[in-house]
Amino acid sequence: MKAVVFHDIGDIRLDTVADPTIEQPTDAIVRLTSSAICGTDLHMIRGTLGGMQPGTVLGHEGVGIVEEVGRGVRNLRRGSRVLIPSTISCGACSYCRAGYTAQCDTANPNGAQAGTAFFGGPASTGPFNGLQAQYARTPLAGASLVPLPDDVDDDRAILLSDIFPTGYFGAQLAEVRPGNVVVVYGAGPVGLFAIASARLMGAGRIFCVDRVASRLDMARAMGAEAVNFDEEDPVEALMDLTGGIGADRVIDAVGVDAVRAGNGSNGANEGNGGDGKSAQFDEEVQEITQGRGAQNGAWQPGNGPSQVLQWALKSVAKAGTIGVIGVYPPNDRFFPIGEAMNRNLTLKLGNCNHRTIVPRLVEIVREGTFDPLGVLTHREPLMNVLDAYRAFDAREPGWIKVKLEP
Ligand SMILES: NC(=O)c1ccc[n+]([C@@H]2O[C@H](COP(=O)([O-])OP(=O)(O)OC[C@H]3O[C@@H](n4cnc5c(N)ncnc54)[C@H](O)[C@@H]3O)[C@@H](O)[C@H]2O)c1
Ligand SMILES: [Zn+2]
Ligand SMILES: [Zn+2]
Repeated sequence: MKAVVFHDIGDIRLDTVADPTIEQPTDAIVRLTSSAICGTDLHMIRGTLGGMQPGTVLGHEGVGIVEEVGRGVRNLRRGSRVLIPSTISCGACSYCRAGYTAQCDTANPNGAQAGTAFFGGPASTGPFNGLQAQYARTPLAGASLVPLPDDVDDDRAILLSDIFPTGYFGAQLAEVRPGNVVVVYGAGPVGLFAIASARLMGAGRIFCVDRVASRLDMARAMGAEAVNFDEEDPVEALMDLTGGIGADRVIDAVGVDAVRAGNGSNGANEGNGGDGKSAQFDEEVQEITQGRGAQNGAWQPGNGPSQVLQWALKSVAKAGTIGVIGVYPPNDRFFPIGEAMNRNLTLKLGNCNHRTIVPRLVEIVREGTFDPLGVLTHREPLMNVLDAYRAFDAREPGWIKVKLEP
C-alpha cells in the first residue's frame, strides 16, 4: 500500500510499504477513506517533537471502512464505517473508565507510565504506524473506534478524529463558562475549533491571536475578535480590549513551534527582540531540537518555543485558567512558573481524551448544532500529500485543513 513514511527530520516520503495485518485479537484493519495532516505532524518533521523511529507511517486522523477484525472485536464487522480517534485506549482500565482515555494504562506498549498512545507518533507513544495510508492496523478497536452514522459524511467526520475534539478539550481544560472572556492563541485548525467550542460553552467574548491573515479571517468568521501579533503587541491589545483585566480563560493552541514577536514585516512589536529574550528563545530552540531542527526554508522550527506561554500568563486575569493543548515535547522545560504561582492561576494541560469526547461531538454535528465544515479548506488525493504538507507547513494563504483521500 501507499503511506507517508517518516525517514528523518525534514525527510518524509510517500512510500510503498507492506499492508498491515491483524497482530492481536483486539485489532481491526481499516481501509482509510479519509485522512488528514495535523500541526502535530509538523512538530515531528521539524524536529521539535523528537524521538521518531524512522520507518513509522505518519498520520493520526482517519475515517474508513473496517476490512477485517480480530476475534476479540465484538461490536464491529467487515464493512462497518468508523472514525479512528488519534489516541488509542482500552475502555477497561481505571483511567479510561474515568474519561482519561489519553492516559490509558494498557494502550501504550512502553508501559502504564509511558503516557499517551497515538497513531504515527514518536517511539515513546507506541510507536504505532499511522493513518496517512491506504490501510491501518487499529489496536483495541472495539473500545477505540467510533462507529459513524451515515448522515455524518467524511468531510465532517475527519475533523472529528482529532482537531475538533482537541479544541473542545482545550475549552474544557480552560474551564470556559457562560459569559467568560476567552483568548485563543493560534488560529490553526485546533485554535479555530477551540473558538467554536468556547462558543458552544457560552463564552461571552472570544479573542484569537495569530499572524496569518487568512487564518484570522476564519477566526472572525467563527465569532472571534482578531489580534495580529505582527501588527501590535498582543498583550497590550488584549489588556486594552478587556478593560485592563485580561481574559478569564486562555487556550494555547500553538505549542512548541510558536513564533516569537518581532517577525512582522512592518517592524511593529519588536519589543521582545530587544530585551534579551532573543537569546533566551534561541537557547530554547537549541535545547529542544538538540541542534537537529531543519535549517533550510521548509520544516523550520518555531523560533519562540515559550512565546505563547509567556503571553498567555500576561493576558490572563488574576486567578484565571490556562488550558494548554498546543504540544510541547517531554524535554521542554521552559514554563514561567513564578509568574503563574504569584497570580493564583490554574493551569491544565494535556493530550485530548478523544474517545471520551468524540461521540458527543458526532451528535452535535449530526443534530446540526454546529457545522465544522468551514475549517476544511482543501481535499487532495494521497498522491499529492507532499505538496499538501509543504503548503500547510508554509502557512500558505487559505490553507487551513486538508483532507487526504487515500
Ligand atoms: N493536545 C492534543 O491532544 C493535540 C491534538 C492535536 C493537535 N495538538 C496541537 O495543537 C497545536 C495546533 O495544531 P494545528 O493543527 O492547529 O497547528 P498549526 O500549525 O496549523 O497552527 C498553529 C498556529 O499558531 C500560529 N502561531 C505561531 N506562533 C504564534 C504565536 N506566538 N502566537 C499566536 N499564534 C501563533 C501559527 O501561525 C499557526 O496558525 C499544535 O501544537 C498541535 O500539535 C494537540
Ligand atoms: Zn493532531
Ligand atoms: Zn484504558
